[in-house]
Amino acid sequence: MKFSQEPELPGKTGTASVSAVNWTYVLDEALLLEGCTAPVYPLGVNVLLARVGGAVFAVSGKCAHMACPLSMGRLEGYTVVCPCHDWRFDVRTGRFLDAPELGLTVYPTKLEAGKLFVNLG
Ligand code: FES
Repeated sequence: MKFSQEPELPGKTGTASVSAVNWTYVLDEALLLEGCTAPVYPLGVNVLLARVGGAVFAVSGKCAHMACPLSMGRLEGYTVVCPCHDWRFDVRTGRFLDAPELGLTVYPTKLEAGKLFVNLG
């Protein structure tokens, strides 16, 4: 099983952009099925989880256009489609497919002991 961010190794140090102290539990892994999304709210932040090809991705749960909830949209491969005006975003990169300079915040994910974590940075 793949995740968008490999777990931190014990004792790992350095200048990695992912802080080891900012991992927040969001969901039991078994509850996120392949090809599905789930809204989660680590520390009150609206995040959308998506599982595609066995990997788990996490992006902002609010559309970059007018903040509609992407959890109400649909997932087509790696693309989440906003329910309001059909803007499409790649869950791997957060990029808006029709204008890649726009996009969603992407959060690293990891799996530990059957539990999914998101790093808000
Ligand atoms: S609010 Fe998402 S496309 Fe308009």
